[in-house]
Amino acid sequence: MEVIHTIKELQSILNRYSSQSKSIGFVPTMGALHAGHMELVKRSVAENDISVVSIFVNPTQFNDKNDLIKYPRTLEADYKLLEEAGNSYVFVPSEEEIYPEPDVRQFGFGPLETVMEGKFRPGHFNGVAQVVSRLLDIVKPDNAYFGEKDFQQLAIVRELVKQLNLNVQIVACPIIREKDGLAMSSRNTRLNENQRKEAVFISKTLFESRNRCKEYTVDALKDWVVNNINSNPELHTEYFDIVDGSNLQSIGKWEDTDYPVGCIAVFAGEIRLIDNIVYSGK
Ligand code: PAF
Repeated sequence: MEVIHTIKELQSILNRYSSQSKSIGFVPTMGALHAGHMELVKRSVAENDISVVSIFVNPTQFNDKNDLIKYPRTLEADYKLLEEAGNSYVFVPSEEEIYPEPDVRQFGFGPLETVMEGKFRPGHFNGVAQVVSRLLDIVKPDNAYFGEKDFQQLAIVRELVKQLNLNVQIVACPIIREKDGLAMSSRNTRLNENQRKEAVFISKTLFESRNRCKEYTVDALKDWVVNNINSNPELHTEYFDIVDGSNLQSIGKWEDTDYPVGCIAVFAGEIRLIDNIVYSGK
């Protein structure tokens, strides 16, 4: 593992690999790495000749400045984990390196960005698109790895790659959960003891909703999930929607899609957690 801070240095190393037709894998992160990130890294290391992991807390994707300030930063621990994963370069650029000028680009993702996260976090996906397009342009990977926990982000990134006609394969990796079921997230470290204990109620409710989906209508299941989570005094649901996983639009009836996905955002205090579940077999 080698840590690199500048684009110039990174590109001079990566040019050596691409000129020998070696494949480059890329895992963009904002650091505070956990086992979920490490699954992406392991997969990239296994599937490519060389991997780049970026650590950059991207200010343009935070619609809530308080969230940006409080976002966990654990560089030394991140390096340690990456050291164990092997065969990678860690790109840790400064803000000036990524945005020498303010990025004023406005992307448009149509109906993909007006729902769920896009609706409740205005500007978030434009910021994600700014940084992801910038990073993909710098690294020029053959494969880039994203987690399915950020289900909507994955759809936006796929659309971005299509719009910009980029020659990169976007590889989706399954959600990694804590032993008790809570979806892994860098934000979990900000939960206090009680919030952490109760946060498991989110995944428990989603798993239970999968058992109930055969008997419930879409609307009844949505109500059940929201009421169940909100009955826990530590939690408050911001949204729960059941969408067609291929276009992210709400469905009214199970027959509307063969790929129904329940996507949720829940506050535990001021910590916002997201998760999702595929209602397979519906
Ligand atoms: O998923 C994340 O951690 C971020 O949104 C990403 C893709 C690294 C862009 O900053």
